[in-house]
Amino acid sequence: MAHDTAMLTNAQTRDIEALLHPYTNPAAHRKVGAHLIERGEGIYVYDDQGRKFIEGLAGLWCCGLGFGDAELIEAAKEQLDRLPYYHLFGGRTHEPAIELAEKIKELYPVPMARVIYSCSGSEANDTQVKLVWYMMNALGKPQKKKIIARKRGYHGVTLVSASLTGLPLNHGSFDLPFDFVKHTTSPHFWREGKPGETEAEFTARLAQDLEDMILTEGPDTVAAFIAEPVMGAGGVIVPPKGYFEAIAPILQKYDILFIDDEVICGFGRTGNWFGAETFKMQTTSVSMAKQITGAYVPLSAVAINAEMADAIEAEASRYPGLGHGFTYGGHPLGCAVGVKTLEIYQRRDIVGHVRKMAPIFQAKLRSFADHPLVGEARGVGLMGALELSPDKANKGSFKEFGKVGGKLMNELLGHGIILRAMGDVVGLCPPMIINEAEIEELFAPMETALDATYQWAKAEGHLG
Ligand SMILES: Cc1ncc(COP(=O)(O)O)c(C=O)c1O
Repeated sequence: MAHDTAMLTNAQTRDIEALLHPYTNPAAHRKVGAHLIERGEGIYVYDDQGRKFIEGLAGLWCCGLGFGDAELIEAAKEQLDRLPYYHLFGGRTHEPAIELAEKIKELYPVPMARVIYSCSGSEANDTQVKLVWYMMNALGKPQKKKIIARKRGYHGVTLVSASLTGLPLNHGSFDLPFDFVKHTTSPHFWREGKPGETEAEFTARLAQDLEDMILTEGPDTVAAFIAEPVMGAGGVIVPPKGYFEAIAPILQKYDILFIDDEVICGFGRTGNWFGAETFKMQTTSVSMAKQITGAYVPLSAVAINAEMADAIEAEASRYPGLGHGFTYGGHPLGCAVGVKTLEIYQRRDIVGHVRKMAPIFQAKLRSFADHPLVGEARGVGLMGALELSPDKANKGSFKEFGKVGGKLMNELLGHGIILRAMGDVVGLCPPMIINEAEIEELFAPMETALDATYQWAKAEGHLG
């Protein structure tokens, strides 16, 4: 869907002059122009040329209920009519904020005591680190401040959450990561497993790597470990069997908190309400965003356990109050839409639906595992990825990072499928409302697109 520069529409020209696009190559964008999306309905979006696309990544892993859900729109309208804005500063509150927090506490599998809101996943993870530090100061452990994250993890883009993120793209030229963040091995068996290593051995090695890092840094300097249940933006990396069970005793042994980043996995995506349930994670706090409102309104939440809550409340009592909070944290619009979203997930049994669709989706995805361009087909629930490789026997990587992945993404776009290439990994994460016929439709052009990409890669010399 490349445009000739002379062919750019008026909107594309204005876009180029007015916007700096996230995760977009500016030079290429000037040539190709923006893709203008005008409206959406169900799992589909429509562009300004009237073309219809399956939104195969639910926007950015977030539109769980698809586009145009009348109940969510009505809930937003009602809340705007009643109370379009209020805050939670200085002890003020409103019903949607209370109700949503209660619902989060009820649904999350590990007991949590308090919820604090922000507007994005990045802000939630920034808040996590601030609360951990605050807690450590409260406990008289001011030296216990380091955070262990993982290579290829994604936790956002603000200064602290970009530091937690374990991707070079988010660090280069930003002078990140901050020193207090350390990144341990990515739990990707296919890519990181050593020749002859079993999955169980790999899991044991990762747990050992973590313990070694803690010992090298000094256990009394490490405050918390942060992990997504399934790494999303790092390439849909499903942890090896027993991974979180192996890690839990190490964290407990050294008195290290476990921050669960459920920004993508939360609210049904993996076939349970939370990834923590799917992967048996024994966490101490959790970040949520995206599907909490079906992405109709920006909202994120951090829930903390009783031990954290007690320490933070004690420390805050030493000051006029807790010195943290966003103007729009707990915005009534976000909270009201959040309450309605969770009610819909329950009433329409979206988790049950994901469980029904997941085997169909995963079988389809894995049917491409034998394609000569596919190194690994992986996923869980209604999320997955195809990792492309020029030499799957040796798990090779392409010399030019991201070119072949980008080509496959564009081929699929030409067939009316929007997916996301993360380098040479193409991710799938459709709205959770997708049905069996729509899953068929989503995968229908995949073979043709893979073949075309393979032929192109061969002709362009990307296969070595
Ligand atoms: C797991 C995870 N955490 C945090 C974030 C950051 O969220 P936001 O883009 O809303 O700041 C993302 C975004 O994709 C994410 O996938």
